[in-house]
Amino acid sequence: MSNLLCNYHHYLIGGALLASSSIAAYSTYKLLRLQKSKEVKKKDATDYESEKVLSEYLVFHFGAPHEVLRYSYGPKDSLDFPRRLADECLRVFSTLNKDMVPSRALDIGCAVGRTSFELTKGFDEVIGIDYSEAFVDACNILKANGSIKYSVQDEWQLTTPLTAVVDTNIDRNKASFQQGDACNLPLDLGQFGCVVAANLICRLHTPMDFLNRLSSLVAPGGFLLLTSPFTFSVEYTPKKNMLGGYKDKDGNPVWASNTLQKVLELDFELLESKEMPFFIRETAHKNQWTVAYAMIWKRKE
Ligand SMILES: C[S@@+](CC[C@H](N)C(=O)[O-])C[C@H]1O[C@@H](n2cnc3c(N)ncnc32)[C@H](O)[C@@H]1O
Repeated sequence: MSNLLCNYHHYLIGGALLASSSIAAYSTYKLLRLQKSKEVKKKDATDYESEKVLSEYLVFHFGAPHEVLRYSYGPKDSLDFPRRLADECLRVFSTLNKDMVPSRALDIGCAVGRTSFELTKGFDEVIGIDYSEAFVDACNILKANGSIKYSVQDEWQLTTPLTAVVDTNIDRNKASFQQGDACNLPLDLGQFGCVVAANLICRLHTPMDFLNRLSSLVAPGGFLLLTSPFTFSVEYTPKKNMLGGYKDKDGNPVWASNTLQKVLELDFELLESKEMPFFIRETAHKNQWTVAYAMIWKRKE
């Protein structure tokens, strides 16, 4: 672990202690760390372990609108993406026969956990899994304390202190978080009425391994919400494993949406597809505006 990250973890712990003013909270945090599976292999440090990206995701997931989009203009309909994902799932789940479909949700690539926490409003049990140790640690602090202190970058070394708070109406005990690899998930996860994979597939080394696992994770009659901006890059995925974004040997374009269709329609039926915009604040004056392609697939019974 880098010194920076190590210091940041101490900062997070310090923030949690301040927020709770309780020795018990620190003990809970230490216990959570000890319970973490020792079998999870640590891969090379990625962006998702850095202090900067952790802060960007905390404000992306939990920031109030004025903390994320600081101007009187801009794409306000792109805010609160992690909550909107959960709302989509809760809407679809409300139409299903609850006797047939387990009230369990899995949020793969959960980042700092907002979607997972929101899903507990309609599911009895929610599991969030992410490769990033820093993200999963933040999720577990949020679960234990309901809040976490952090700082967003404004301009180089200048920052603004903020607090991420989980909605107090949420039963945080229904959510649990673990570190794991979407391409090599534990075999004992069981089946879920809902699986969410938001903006994950183009960050995977072998996305096909993940796609092939989905039919055993989603219970018959349950559904998958998969979103992606299709920002493939060899930084994450070797060319031979890319789902799309290139021309095949005959010069024909291969689009990831077509590849997904071909793979998923074997076991799933496409219920809906649409575009879902989102907005990530990087600094006071630099932001990302992205439009993800979202698909809701129902597992064939
Ligand atoms: C673009 S972010 C999206 C996060 C979140 N779903 C959201 O919509 O805000 C990609 C996430 O996938 C996680 N991730 C990357 N590779 C992974 C893997 N092999 N297994 C599980 N999670 C992974 C990253 O740590 C990060 O949290």
